Amino acid sequence: MKTLLITGGAGFIGSHVVRLFVNKYPEYKILNLDKLTYAGNLANLKDIEGKPNYEFIKGDIVDSGFIQKLFETCQFDGVIHLAAESHVDRSISNPLEFVMTNVVGTVNLLNAAKHIWKDGFDGKRFYHISTDEVYGSLGEKGLFTEETPYDPHSPYSAAKASSDHFVRAYHDTYGLPVVISNCSNNYGSFQFPEKLIPLFINNIKNNKPLPVYGKGENVRDWLWVDDHANAIDVIFNKGKLGETYNIGGFNEWTNIDLIRLMCRKMDKKLGRETGESEKLITYVKDRAGHDLRYAIDSSKLKDELGWEPSLQFEEGLEKTIDWYLANTNWLENVTSGDYQKYYEGMYNKK
Ligand code: NAD
Ligand code: TYD
Repeated sequence: MKTLLITGGAGFIGSHVVRLFVNKYPEYKILNLDKLTYAGNLANLKDIEGKPNYEFIKGDIVDSGFIQKLFETCQFDGVIHLAAESHVDRSISNPLEFVMTNVVGTVNLLNAAKHIWKDGFDGKRFYHISTDEVYGSLGEKGLFTEETPYDPHSPYSAAKASSDHFVRAYHDTYGLPVVISNCSNNYGSFQFPEKLIPLFINNIKNNKPLPVYGKGENVRDWLWVDDHANAIDVIFNKGKLGETYNIGGFNEWTNIDLIRLMCRKMDKKLGRETGESEKLITYVKDRAGHDLRYAIDSSKLKDELGWEPSLQFEEGLEKTIDWYLANTNWLENVTSGDYQKYYEGMYNKK
């Protein structure tokens, strides 16, 4: 029986990855390590919490002593590392927290893996989950490939870029068996409503202003979260050691087009007149250092490992809106307490 560590498994993408691995691989023991920050929520995993091959451990990847002991006790065969501070706007207000979790936390995990695997790397694998934001911003044309030079602009992407460099350095220096993927923007169920899609669904539902940064001309490449989880499964099992794989949906939208589409869909679902939700659009001050365009070329992953996105965007968006409308308890729980303070500080600044 293999023992796998998944970090950040109580977060948005992590919970989809944990669910996929626990259900698909009954022969693996899956340990989910998560600090349960504001973004981590065990309610995301209710359906699998009783499974015999699943265990949750609360802990902080920044705590090197704790991480070292955990690795010694559990003797993991593989690591899928998703734990991170993940929101660009929060990184602008508190960069150091991003350095601690995303950089120091990652190096702690690399050290612990190197230590317990010192007698040989056979059958072992450290898989680091990263973002396309490390590549910086595209102009109107072109796509990010695995060869695009790193050019991060936000404290979030700078910290993720740094963690990617450490993962490659541990491969090149110590031979650690690593693999990295860089994915575009994800959407789907269980995403914390500070990110564009769930935030705007929640605001439309509650008739609150929709704060569009700048002119809404920035472009993002959106991928259904379960397609990302499937790509992670493929890369974990079949990806070549030392390689990087880009994951994306070939699905670019300007923010304003996407927001208008969400408004139209929600008008229908909420029984509003067409155009009513669009009146909530409010243009606000642009995000500092706001990257203009992200778009991923994921042809390496398709050609070498056969992965492709499964879901058309409009269908995925419908499902996503329906999920947030049906799961009001989940939304209310995560938007009570500290979320209110965050929201006031972020959007009601004078
Ligand atoms: P998220 O913010 O929803 O979840 C992050 C999880 O990490 C939370 O459960 C949180 O409690 C946990 N965590 C944070 N700090 C921790 C610490 N110090 N120790 C242990 N656990 C800690 O993030 P997400 O959107 O699910 O992203 C997961 C990963 O995927 C991140 O590494 C992110 O950079 C990457 N990624 C995200 C996207 C996206 O669109 N969301 C796209 C590409 C890559
Ligand atoms: P976000 O979901 O924060 O993801 P990222 O910045 O990592 O791509 O934002 C997606 C896009 O939406 C980005 O261009 C910023 C924009 N945005 C707004 O216009 N208003 C908002 O309130 C938020 C959260 C994002």
